[in-house]
Amino acid sequence: MEFRNSLEFARQLDAVDPLGKYRDEFYFPKVDGKEVIYFTGNSLGLQPKRTHKYVDEIMTDWRDLAVEGHFHAEKPWWDYHERLAGPLATIVGAKEKEVTVMNTLTVNLHLLMVSFYRPSPKRYKILCEEKAFPSDQYLLNSQVRFHGLDPKDVIVPIRKRTGEHFWRTGDIVEKIKEVGEELALLLIGGVNYYNGQVFDIRTITAHAKQQGAFVGWDLAHGVGNIGLELHDWGVDFAAWCSYKYMNSGPGNASGIYVHEQYLNRNDIPRFEGWWGTQKDMRFLMEPEFLPMANADAWQISNPPVLSLAPYLASLEMFGEVGMDALITKRKTIVAYLEFILHEIEREANAVFEIITPSDRGCQLSVLLHGQGKDLYRYLKRNGVMVDWREPNVIRLAPVPFYCSYTDMYRFGQILKAGLFKVQGFKA
Ligand SMILES: Cc1ncc(COP(=O)(O)O)c(C=O)c1O
Repeated sequence: MEFRNSLEFARQLDAVDPLGKYRDEFYFPKVDGKEVIYFTGNSLGLQPKRTHKYVDEIMTDWRDLAVEGHFHAEKPWWDYHERLAGPLATIVGAKEKEVTVMNTLTVNLHLLMVSFYRPSPKRYKILCEEKAFPSDQYLLNSQVRFHGLDPKDVIVPIRKRTGEHFWRTGDIVEKIKEVGEELALLLIGGVNYYNGQVFDIRTITAHAKQQGAFVGWDLAHGVGNIGLELHDWGVDFAAWCSYKYMNSGPGNASGIYVHEQYLNRNDIPRFEGWWGTQKDMRFLMEPEFLPMANADAWQISNPPVLSLAPYLASLEMFGEVGMDALITKRKTIVAYLEFILHEIEREANAVFEIITPSDRGCQLSVLLHGQGKDLYRYLKRNGVMVDWREPNVIRLAPVPFYCSYTDMYRFGQILKAGLFKVQGFKA
């Protein structure tokens, strides 16, 4: 499609956007009474309006039924989490039994490492991407120390080439081969939080499995953003948060996936709790733990239904729209944003470097050469919500569920005005 940098053209795209009507399903923050241009759905998704109904239902049942709500609520609380597994399995490309929702992301990665990081004197190394999200670095370091090992001997960061902003799949595969039979675990963020790169999960997983390692993916930036086929790709485990592209609310619950080959087995170490034991045994209060035959075996506590309610509301919307439609729009709107950036770059004589490689999802990370935080502040004051990462990168995520093509056009105009104002450029 040949793009144009005009309001009329952007409006034409919006007029034929099959997802356009979903914009009204979300609340947008306002600046000076006007809805913002929201680029930070990769950090915290907007609130879907229908969330209220789901949360109110729990509040009402709690008020009216109290403890009886566990079994007699509109949606009984004791197995409320089970409602999320099916829709989530569709989104991540898994079987329903391979998915559950519990706790929060880093907590779940710790719990999954209990099962999938079992170092031996010969096989103990962990491969991850260099400069992984800090929580993942703390996770890996502390797990390694927990096993009495030194992170320096164990963790092998996969580096980008000097002068490049992205990882090459070939280099990752080489590293996997180099570590070889010492590789115990590969754990990478499936979509990198900083540069927005989508890793080739299928290829990387296959190579690490060939070496006999376990393979896990942190899908915080992947779920609800990119197409996933975790089961078919042979991924051993994965976890993700739900507050970014899944729009379930700040700090909200995390999903996990465990490949079916590890289900219904007693020979896998796990930290256990009463919600992981078989359902019909749960209230017999017997001392023996009999794991659920699905991913629920990793459940520890009874489900936090007030957090799961917004997640369920969001999953209903994903069910209506489907990942295919979201991905189709995402590709076009990201391409339009890239076009707008290049137009403004030319018109304002600025230098932007998009450091996100072509293997990308929703996020474009842009190095603003010669610009400082003043430009970022200008954008925020003028109703553009972006985030800033040192030294001078803005991350832009035009989320297909609620961002419009007109937003992209308007962003370009505000960016141009900001460049002129902040830098004193002349048009
Ligand atoms: C890639 C990645 N991993 C882990 C986390 C940590 O998530 P949580 O605080 O929910 O444990 C985040 C949070 O943004 C993230 O982006």
